[in-house]
Amino acid sequence: MSAAADLSRPRPSATGLDRMSATRADLYSSIHKALRLFMSDTLAMLGRVDADDEACLRDALEQLEALLSLLRRHISHETDFVHVAIEARLPGASSRVADEHLDQLHSISELEVEAHTLRLSPLAQRRLLAHQLYLRFALFVADKLRHMHSEEIGLNAALWAHYSDGELTELHARMVTHMSPRELAAVTRWLVPAVTPPELVSFIGCMQGKLSAEAFTAFEAHAQQGCDAARWALTMSLLRARHDVAEPASAGSDRGEGGTS
Ligand SMILES: [Fe+2]
Repeated sequence: MSAAADLSRPRPSATGLDRMSATRADLYSSIHKALRLFMSDTLAMLGRVDADDEACLRDALEQLEALLSLLRRHISHETDFVHVAIEARLPGASSRVADEHLDQLHSISELEVEAHTLRLSPLAQRRLLAHQLYLRFALFVADKLRHMHSEEIGLNAALWAHYSDGELTELHARMVTHMSPRELAAVTRWLVPAVTPPELVSFIGCMQGKLSAEAFTAFEAHAQQGCDAARWALTMSLLRARHDVAEPASAGSDRGEGGTS
């Protein structure tokens, strides 16, 4: 086994995390938390859907299709930015994960076809097709969860060994500029309730530096909708404290500057 291949595999320990992971810039953590929540919520929605109820079924399929669309974009960002960076300094280290991305894109296409078929199917077939879609999507989620773990342990190790936090922050900034308004809205919807307060502060702080004043106001209002009053007050307090101490641009201080693409 090559050193590169070894780095791309999960470590044998329970999580593979060590002290370094708590202090380094992390391109994966926050966005993966958002995707885990989005996938879990969608799986539960498909599990309880009343296939005989037109509106209920439509809502579930719309959420599934929104998730699959976001997952396509996420794979694209990882491939075009993160894997390119890894391959530049550790050739071969991202190849296994890249192959998994191709498999996932194929599975996403199949799920989209199944969802479309279900939507157009006669009423008498919908319960069976809805259950088949639920089961297939559950397997997809299981595979995706293992895949994301592999990235957060194996590929983060490669990134941290070969890139500084400043370089990773710059890489993340380039990824964020490639997010469409629709994609940012979806990420905001699912990331805000999924991350820790410091990670949420990093997310909001990052957007503050990237969006126009008008767009940031709309973004902030959207983000607030995902928090109860206490969580939002804590977030604003942490954000003010961060501005007060005028932290340097490093993303590593609160593990979370990255991870929104
Ligand atoms: Fe991935």
